[in-house]
Amino acid sequence: MAANSQSLYELIGGETVLRQLVDRFYDAMDSAPEAKHVRAIHPDDLAHSRDKLFMFLSGWSGGPPLYIEKFGHPRLRQRHMPFPIGKEERDEWLWCMDKALHEMPFDAQLVEHLYGKFTEIANSMQNRVNIDL
Ligand code: HEM
Repeated sequence: MAANSQSLYELIGGETVLRQLVDRFYDAMDSAPEAKHVRAIHPDDLAHSRDKLFMFLSGWSGGPPLYIEKFGHPRLRQRHMPFPIGKEERDEWLWCMDKALHEMPFDAQLVEHLYGKFTEIANSMQNRVNIDL
């Protein structure tokens, strides 16, 4: 990746490109059989999900803090608690994000960087364990 003086938001390409990434992510979730478990725990209408993830990622990447302005502190782990997120849901969420990232005109380093960061957050969102007792 180029100069450190650029924010992740700028490297992504700003608002329009970030919106496209989020749309491709939810389009994948909404249509791919590979994502059926993660799709099932989301609302039927993904419009709010699209807006919220976009607003969150805007601030998270160093752009306008839209999510915090509207909803306050993200407390992401807490907000995910009502939804059962095990390994399958985590893996499928990341599968959708990987697909979306590769559909964007990003260079390989940026894709790798973003995928690594999303993996860290997704890991911390897991709130169910899959163990056979
Ligand atoms: C581990 C896999 C994940 C699953 C299964 C999952 C699932 C969900 C579900 C079911 C919702 C509620 C519906 C909605 O409002 O869209 C939600 C909300 C949200 N998720 Fe995730 N999520 C995951 C990972 C992530 C990650 C990695 C991020 C950030 C990079 C994220 C950011 C958000 C945000 C910002 C909201 C809206 C919170 C709110 O204001 O209610 N999620 N997620």
